[in-house]
Amino acid sequence: MDAASWDERYRGGELVWKAEPNRFVAQELAGLEPSGRAVDLAAGEGRNAVWLAERGWDVDAVDFSAVALEKAQRLGAERGVRLRTVHADLTRWAPPEAAYDLAVIAYLHLPWPRMAEVLRRAAPAVREGGHLLLVGHDAANPEHGHGGPQDPGVLYSAGQVADLWRPYADILRAETVVRPVTDSEGVGHDALDALVHAVRR
Ligand SMILES: C[S@@+](CC[C@H](N)C(=O)[O-])C[C@H]1O[C@@H](n2cnc3c(N)ncnc32)[C@H](O)[C@@H]1O
Repeated sequence: MDAASWDERYRGGELVWKAEPNRFVAQELAGLEPSGRAVDLAAGEGRNAVWLAERGWDVDAVDFSAVALEKAQRLGAERGVRLRTVHADLTRWAPPEAAYDLAVIAYLHLPWPRMAEVLRRAAPAVREGGHLLLVGHDAANPEHGHGGPQDPGVLYSAGQVADLWRPYADILRAETVVRPVTDSEGVGHDALDALVHAVRR
């Protein structure tokens, strides 16, 4: 989907995603002492960026949907925190090198060669000792999980992401994780996500 299609999806008062942070983002980062600057790449309506800011991080929220970033600002204002928003296409924009103590990427799905480029550029943006966290729909999800994009060309495994980050970072976790979801009829399902948490060398 291009930026205009995402803008269209985000238009309207309701949040497309929830206001609460993604469970894996919260679980992985809850124990991490906020220590400076964080960047949320493809931040959408800012659920994870706002949660990080509430915890004391100085957060840049990057997305190519201007509508999403306005909603992220609004969510931050409602919660009494400020975000710095960056309106940029991640396939063209590179985050500044060694500028951040934490980079988060949640549910960004691009054709793999472009996704790999975004991931390769994210790693050097984090300072030595800083953290990198990716959560996304796992490549196994269409067959063994529930919901999410079905096009295998935009899905990835934790192993693929870890392989890209290994030259830059020590991998703390790289695995498929289960996210229980309830469908519109109230039936429970297990969605499969890829989770990679790494520390920059
Ligand atoms: C599924 S949403 C996830 C949003 C947020 N990370 C979350 O977990 O709530 C994917 C986001 O990626 C953004 N996005 C997709 N391609 C992008 C690109 N090339 N550059 C910047 N943002 C992009 C979309 O605008 C959208 O907000």
